[in-house]
Amino acid sequence: MDLMWGLAVVGAVCIGWILLKMLWTCWCGFTTFFLSEIWRVDLKKYGKWAVVTGATSGIGRAYAKELARRGLDVVLISRSNEKLQMVAEEIEAEYGRRTLTIQADFTGGGSIYPAIEEALRGIDIGILVNNVGMSYSGSFSQFLDVPDSELKISQVVNCNMLSVTQMTRIVLPDMVKRGSGLIINIGSEIGARPYPFLSLYCATKVFVRYISLCLDSEYRSKGITVQCVAPLLVSTNMTFNCRVNGLVKSASDFAREALNTVGYTNYTNGCVSHGLQSFVLKLGSGLVHRLAYLMKKPREVPENLHKD
Ligand SMILES: NC(=O)c1ccc[n+]([C@@H]2O[C@H](COP(=O)([O-])OP(=O)(O)OC[C@H]3O[C@@H](n4cnc5c(N)ncnc54)[C@H](OP(=O)(O)O)[C@@H]3O)[C@@H](O)[C@H]2O)c1
Repeated sequence: MDLMWGLAVVGAVCIGWILLKMLWTCWCGFTTFFLSEIWRVDLKKYGKWAVVTGATSGIGRAYAKELARRGLDVVLISRSNEKLQMVAEEIEAEYGRRTLTIQADFTGGGSIYPAIEEALRGIDIGILVNNVGMSYSGSFSQFLDVPDSELKISQVVNCNMLSVTQMTRIVLPDMVKRGSGLIINIGSEIGARPYPFLSLYCATKVFVRYISLCLDSEYRSKGITVQCVAPLLVSTNMTFNCRVNGLVKSASDFAREALNTVGYTNYTNGCVSHGLQSFVLKLGSGLVHRLAYLMKKPREVPENLHKD
């Protein structure tokens, strides 16, 4: 009888714990995606200027424009001077904010950062958006099937990981001195769990997620927020400007919704649609692996492939 009572208590505690966790998840989703539409952090409190890497198209351009719309002056960094000038003119004409453009190629490795640091010297930078990132043609192939000329290992590593680290090293010291700052790192849902056939890109996004969460813990007490945003599909050049629908967001809608989540969470899929898709993928991550493998090699599914 005693054993029965003991098991009943353990069962009740477990069910209570699961219910509490579910309630907490729902509450977090509600505050992050719905309450944040009404109560937003005033992003101007972090400082006058925002810096956005990869700012001439897609998600980066959308972040730059949304930040300008919310009252910040914007430093735009990308490879093409022509495109930089175009986006800068758009921002100045549409929102009346100041802009500064810096031409840089983030595949270039450590040598590009002294010039960027020099160009940013003396500017009151409140927000850094580490958005720049690249995939490679031939992705969705087995690792060895991607030719060296397309995989471009050092370029992907430099662009997706070194840029986040180095840009943070440049802006963080002044943020710490002022006791205020926001760093947004654009990761990907692909960094949330292993995605076969996108191995290198996937691994770089895991890096973005982990460095964001570590830095957020290290510097939160100094007034710095580090947020990792992990989108699913956003219609941009990277995704061949695929059609916007319930699952695929436009870059401008995505940036607006993702910026609303600042102050609510340090890790987010950015919008409610992507949050729900991520939740479903999490439930079936083993299935995702098996499907990815089946799509590639119908007769070569190894027995020990991810059985959870
Ligand atoms: N789109 C999605 O569905 C999706 C999903 C998950 C995560 N993401 C992540 O979101 C970020 C932005 O992606 P996106 O889809 O907006 O890409 P995109 O449309 O291809 O835009 C990339 C931006 O980065 C700049 N850029 C590219 N390579 C560069 C380099 N080597 N040096 C300097 N600037 C460079 C491009 O401008 P220039 O060509 O003028 O240099 C452009 O402004 C990436 O980190 C990506 O991994 C995207």
